[in-house]
Amino acid sequence: MANVHLKKEWMLPERMVTPEQVYITRRQAISALGLSVIGGSLSAGLFAPGLAEAAPSSRFEATYSALPRLKAARNPKYQVSDPLTPMSIVGKFNNFYEFSREKDDVWLKAEKLTTRPWTVEVSGEVKKARTFDIDDLIKRMPMEERVYRFRCVEAWSMTVPWAGFPLSALLKAVEPTSRAKFVKFTTFMRPSEAPRQGRKPWFGQPEPFPYTEGLSMAEAMNELTLITVGIYGRALPKQNGAPIRLIVPWKYGYKNIKSVVKIELTERQPATFWNLLGPREYGFVSNVNPRVPHPRWSQAFERDIGTRRRKPTLLYNGYEEQVAGLYKG
Ligand code: MTE
Repeated sequence: MANVHLKKEWMLPERMVTPEQVYITRRQAISALGLSVIGGSLSAGLFAPGLAEAAPSSRFEATYSALPRLKAARNPKYQVSDPLTPMSIVGKFNNFYEFSREKDDVWLKAEKLTTRPWTVEVSGEVKKARTFDIDDLIKRMPMEERVYRFRCVEAWSMTVPWAGFPLSALLKAVEPTSRAKFVKFTTFMRPSEAPRQGRKPWFGQPEPFPYTEGLSMAEAMNELTLITVGIYGRALPKQNGAPIRLIVPWKYGYKNIKSVVKIELTERQPATFWNLLGPREYGFVSNVNPRVPHPRWSQAFERDIGTRRRKPTLLYNGYEEQVAGLYKG
């Protein structure tokens, strides 16, 4: 655990791994806004799931309520017994390094991101490369809602209903060639909107923007792999990766790349943002595994950012049945 492979400035902040501190940081952010989620008021649970919406009462709530609603019926196959994490928490506790190294100001800083027009190029080892307009893509793909667990490598977790469509549906539409072995995802590159993309290297280690991630073809075609465009019945807020992101619930949070502009099928394993920064701490595969500690902390337990409960982490984040077969041998 004492092994430190990253330069100090590039460590994920250890305070975020300390469960009480995770909560305190978030709580400070919430109370700074004059809201109280944990204390139980927040306009009688405004934005807590299942409750009627009241009139918008803050900048956050106004922005969120202005997001278009999405039609996506819940798929009963993907349910979770843990309580849903209220949007008021999911939307104010974010990792989005293009905008901030903190968690509690991303929702404000990401307001600058332009999400229309927006296109997604799907190319590489495919027979029918295409660039989709985001709204055409949403109309064309089979939309559904799924409740998934989400486990960050920093040992916090949440449970939310995402709306989207299986990545497999999109990949089938472009007809992968037999050479396609991996899928590479790339986030936008716009330093004028996301100032941290334009930063000079710190301590000689440049941040390898644009953010990239990758999956094997088998992982990409797995039923759980969801291209996500909505949350809690509305379009994704910017801080959560608008207008389109990846959700792979059996992998650590950083694999769930936000605001994707390009999906490329490749023969070789692609380089990824965190793997470039800290290859010994952030592997390419990065499946949730309580038995494999991060070099600097245990992964055996996690703190639910909604209930604040500490609970044991599950192998493959509880999705063993769907994905264990991918890793046999
Ligand atoms: N995608 C981009 N483009 N940039 C990022 O910094 N952070 C990752 C992932 N996707 C990140 C990203 C990390 S570390 C996590 S834990 C999740 O997004 C957080 O998603 P959320 O803010 O919706 O909870």
